[in-house]
Amino acid sequence: MTKEEIVKIFQEKFGNETPEVYASPGRINLIGEHTDYNGSFVFPGAIDKGMIAAIRLNGTDKIKAYAVDLDQYAEFGLNEEDKPEEGWAKYIFGVCREITKRGGTVKGFDTAFSGDVPLGAGMSSSAALESTYAFALNDMLHLGIDKFELARIGQSTEHNYVGVKCGIMDQFASIFGKEGHLIRLDTKSMEYEYFPFDPEPHGYKLVLLDTVVKHELASSAYNKRRESCERAAKAIHDNGHPEVEFLRDATMQQLEEVRDKISPEDYMRAEYVIEETQRVRDVSDALKKDDYETVGQKMYETHHGMSKLYEVSCEELDFLNDLARDHDVTGSRVMGGGFGGCTINLVKNELYDKFIADAKEKFEAKYGHEPKVYDVVISDGARKL
Ligand code: GLA
Repeated sequence: MTKEEIVKIFQEKFGNETPEVYASPGRINLIGEHTDYNGSFVFPGAIDKGMIAAIRLNGTDKIKAYAVDLDQYAEFGLNEEDKPEEGWAKYIFGVCREITKRGGTVKGFDTAFSGDVPLGAGMSSSAALESTYAFALNDMLHLGIDKFELARIGQSTEHNYVGVKCGIMDQFASIFGKEGHLIRLDTKSMEYEYFPFDPEPHGYKLVLLDTVVKHELASSAYNKRRESCERAAKAIHDNGHPEVEFLRDATMQQLEEVRDKISPEDYMRAEYVIEETQRVRDVSDALKKDDYETVGQKMYETHHGMSKLYEVSCEELDFLNDLARDHDVTGSRVMGGGFGGCTINLVKNELYDKFIADAKEKFEAKYGHEPKVYDVVISDGARKL
């Protein structure tokens, strides 16, 4: 939706005064999955799909919000007990609360928003929504909150108002995204580096295949993965390695030493995270040399780990991953939290058409619907339009 379109809808709902307009994107992640709550590395980029919101302060202490795509309206106050019922409104409310908790004074506003990040596809529509409002309120109310804290406001919203104990990757990418660049973020030190990313001239395309499947209980399963990792890290820490704060700090040797002290399940989860940490390092090195074959190989290894050790894949995603292998696709893996959503695929230009056509046909034959196809365009982060 364009700026003009959202302004028009806003004015139909809330009257003729001109609102401000802000936008924030969803994200992809090249590699480094379920690493961000383990103090490890991620490699995301913002995409050309996101949320757009028209906002105007309304001189009251109420928020009046219209979700254009759902055609739903919600009105709520700014105090803790005013939490709205609507799932989508909790994100806006949570952002306001988290700003307030950090000492910022939020004022009432009218808003209409719309998005084109596919819901449940693992491209972080929720982070796009949080970042839009965190960025907008900071700007409109001159709160002076830095960009890291804006990302944390979105993350805390997930923790405290949505119930997902997520890491920082999605909100970070949505705020810090830069056109044509992926970002390697160290989630322990919060140091980050922009990597120019343009595989096309090297003969590759990056494409997402969305299973359009989202399994129930994804958020409780996500939180369980996190708990497993924390237990494993603590076991290693208590086993004579005080320097190990997160699994990112641990080695396979150290994990092996505590094998009898943790459950087989926690062991598998930790093994995946330790290996994934190394894979992100390997991909950083490979990308600096434009070695896309190594990048692709690591993506397959990640898929294997996410499917067999971390157990966050599903039948439909494994099917698409196998299909990519059959087509000699350079790299393919489940992207994001898992339990449905997309695979991210690095495909040679000349194999692209056949791969996509076959994926559509074979997936439909098996699951009754085609996967959705999204070509990845790496774009800018949160901004005022
Ligand atoms: C979700 C979370 C992120 C990250 C990914 C998995 O998108 O919001 O913090 O943990 O899953 O890498």
